[in-house]
Amino acid sequence: MSETPTPIARRRTFAIISHPDAGKTTLTEKLLLFSGAIQIAGSVKARKASRHATSDWMEIEKQRGISVASSVMQMEWRDCVINLLDTPGHQDFSEDTYRVLTAVDAALMVIDAANGVEAQTLRLLEVCRARNTPIITFVNKMDREVRTPLDLMDEIERHLGMDAIPFTWPVGMGKNFHGVLDLRERRMRVFRPGEDRLDGGDETIDGLDNPALAARFGAELAQAREEIGLLSEATAEFDRAAFLAGRQSPLFFGSAINNFGVREVLDALVDQAPPPGPRPAVQRVVQPSEPKFTGMVFKIQANMDPAHRDRIAFVRVCSGRFERGMRLKVGRTGKEIRPNTVVAFMSQRRELLEEAWAGDIIGIPNHGTLRLGDTLTEGEALQFTGLPFFAPELFQAVEIADPLRSKQLRTGLMQLGEEGAIQVFRPHFSGSLLLGAVGTLQFDVVLHRLSGEYNVAARLAPTPYRVARWIHSDDERQLKRFIEENAHRIAYDVVDAPTILLTHAAELRVLQERWPDVSFHALREHA
Ligand code: G4P
Repeated sequence: MSETPTPIARRRTFAIISHPDAGKTTLTEKLLLFSGAIQIAGSVKARKASRHATSDWMEIEKQRGISVASSVMQMEWRDCVINLLDTPGHQDFSEDTYRVLTAVDAALMVIDAANGVEAQTLRLLEVCRARNTPIITFVNKMDREVRTPLDLMDEIERHLGMDAIPFTWPVGMGKNFHGVLDLRERRMRVFRPGEDRLDGGDETIDGLDNPALAARFGAELAQAREEIGLLSEATAEFDRAAFLAGRQSPLFFGSAINNFGVREVLDALVDQAPPPGPRPAVQRVVQPSEPKFTGMVFKIQANMDPAHRDRIAFVRVCSGRFERGMRLKVGRTGKEIRPNTVVAFMSQRRELLEEAWAGDIIGIPNHGTLRLGDTLTEGEALQFTGLPFFAPELFQAVEIADPLRSKQLRTGLMQLGEEGAIQVFRPHFSGSLLLGAVGTLQFDVVLHRLSGEYNVAARLAPTPYRVARWIHSDDERQLKRFIEENAHRIAYDVVDAPTILLTHAAELRVLQERWPDVSFHALREHA
């Protein structure tokens, strides 16, 4: 790296993965506070509170204006620009989350120290692991009576399938939480509860063997020292290359609500997390430092303003520099667009954007020109890979009371399908559309949005399907024969990729045996 890092080398783009209630919102807020991106404690929290206050999830959708503004948050720490991508928290709504994870270069895993690694975190971890995304681990809520650090570390390592390398180690917990030993800086940061305190006031004591520590922190310190002794025999040294390859995870302990341990996380993002890396496309690998702009749409949020049917495409800049007024080519269609009102995401507000660099996220309002997985370039024919669509596990048919609205229903479903809110399948034979989802909540959201945004009163009807697989064969004739023979259970998704719908997983095995030249995929990548 050169003396003055380039704007791209200064970018860090990450997401937080956690189970609901582990402390993601609290930590996000503290990160923003620390870096000066927001001034008032409580603003991120307030947003979440207002979400929770409306127990009706649909109400949340009405506030989408807010949720878009906060779904990407940019902050500065030391000489770095850090982009934090929000992952939708709801358990049922995780498909979107997976796609967000494809747009980051690192992940911060937040764990509730009382609960250890929980279900939702595990699912997200799998995505990170599949992509070798480097993971920093933050064990939160040390101010509570929680599990022992060795026990937690052991569980984290088992689930991560990689070594957790403690950067800090807690001294005590709950009422007797005294702080953390910074194992690399060799000093103790003393814990003092308090929500709104920012950095600067923390007491630190140098030297891990400093007798002053033993005098003040007695039994808890003795225990921490013993644990560290055990660790030094059992754990590997931190190796940044191993971290970047997804084989080691730096481990931190703290208490987000008390603003404790947060600064270390920001430092780790700057010092350890990688700048934007190369991204694979069908045609070639794209380097972030290439002068020409390329980007990928990883998220679409529709109908911000129902009157105009506008949508915002969230684009991860993969290479070069974006500037306002630039002409861009959409790889899938070859169409040229010249977006004028591209937005940047600055903590709580949306702002008109002048320029952005690889690693940044820009928002392009459009009317359906851009779809999930689309690649944007300055003219090159390019298609990035790696944006996942998951085979749905739940299927419903849609019925409408008023047949005269069927055109609107179709339009609505196709648009919501393009947004990725739900997967929409067009059966080979019948004309009515099928909906597929990974979580049941997606169906409710779609019905609600059909009525609110397209004025279509629809209801769901059961279907026998339980399994869907995208089908592929290098032998076109085989594929055609397969489709003909199974036409009654073939359907096409929003980009016309063929799938087979099954009522039992067991049928899949039979098909695989009968059709060795056809492959069946639970995951589809790119548009
Ligand atoms: P999430 O976004 O991951 O769902 O979690 P969130 O930050 O909302 O935190 C979940 C709960 O855990 C909140 O309590 C929050 O205050 C609490 N919490 C977060 N970090 C810490 C910590 O370091 N120590 C302790 N003791 N608690 C923590 P809540 O009761 O649900 O909300 P609130 O009434 O406190 O706002």
